[in-house]
Amino acid sequence: MIYSKIIGTGSYLPAKVLTNYDLEKIVDTSHDWIVSRSGIVERHIAADDELTSDLALQASRKAIAAAGISADEIDLVIVATTSPDQLFPSTACILQDKLGIKSRGPAFDIQAVCGGFVYALNTADMYIKGGQAKTALVVGAEVLSRMLDWSDRTTCVLFGDGAGAVILSASDKPGIAASKLHADGSHRDMLKAEGNIRNGEVDGDPFIKMDGQAVFKFAVKVLSDVVDELLEEKGMSGSEINWLVPHQANIRIIEATSKKIGLSMDNVIVTVANHGNTSAASIPLALDTAVRDGRIQAGQNILIEAVGGGFTWGAVLIKW
Ligand code: ACO
Repeated sequence: MIYSKIIGTGSYLPAKVLTNYDLEKIVDTSHDWIVSRSGIVERHIAADDELTSDLALQASRKAIAAAGISADEIDLVIVATTSPDQLFPSTACILQDKLGIKSRGPAFDIQAVCGGFVYALNTADMYIKGGQAKTALVVGAEVLSRMLDWSDRTTCVLFGDGAGAVILSASDKPGIAASKLHADGSHRDMLKAEGNIRNGEVDGDPFIKMDGQAVFKFAVKVLSDVVDELLEEKGMSGSEINWLVPHQANIRIIEATSKKIGLSMDNVIVTVANHGNTSAASIPLALDTAVRDGRIQAGQNILIEAVGGGFTWGAVLIKW
């Protein structure tokens, strides 16, 4: 039996920090409002000349070093992003080149918004279990700051830039134990950036728009449902989960979901205060933090879950 196992993690946050106090000078908001409604204290903003692939490159180099492999061993590159460098080629192809990867396995992006990393990890797992790849680089990377209307206080306070990466390797020992993915496009108006390019012009509104309260309710419901679905399939209870690593959108969504699945916040990795909602990057950022500070240990049961525009949502259970 071939399993896929995470053998290295890495993450990167741009140097420029934008605090809630900085935002008070841009829009009519306050540090206290943002912290009480979202748990976010600060976010990082990419430099003008930093692209999504540059953030991905920094995180990937750290993951490759942590895994102790050479970049040439990577035979699959998947980048989950909603803010690619350009319309095409994919950010994954650009990243493959920037890393100097010589092997010519597939490289492609996955667009599932905040659900992107869960989708990407599941896809890489299928490649490895199916024998089509041995060593996969799976990245979530975003420069969402460029998709924000900085005069809209209902969105601009919530998002940030960053990247996280994992190396997934074929193994004879259990790693990724189960995954569940879902999508429902009928809810696509709840969270969207409608703009596109037509005849050389931006066609439609290119900024992120969101019905915050509707997203909140939907997120808590589908996240707790998908976790229940996964645990039931594996015959496990919430108490057997050592660490929940949720999508870092909002502390209130994280707390409400943990409560619904009966998991203490002592078993939840929370990093949203330091980087805000980095969409597809948020789970690998949180994972890397908890691996490097020693909370996540070999043999533990790790559950990751995410929901994002589309809507897309899913969960992955990992034996670390
Ligand atoms: N600063 C100060 N006041 C604000 C701000 C702000 N940044 N934004 C909105 N307000 C005001 C509103 O205008 C409103 O004022 P009013 O009562 O005078 O009309 C008041 O605050 C309350 O607004 P609500 O929208 O009811 O605030 P709520 O408590 O619902 O919090 C929030 C808003 C934080 C967006 C919440 O709905 C939420 O967390 N939603 C989930 C959205 C989310 O996390 N999305 C992330 C992307 S989706 C994903 O990753 C899955």
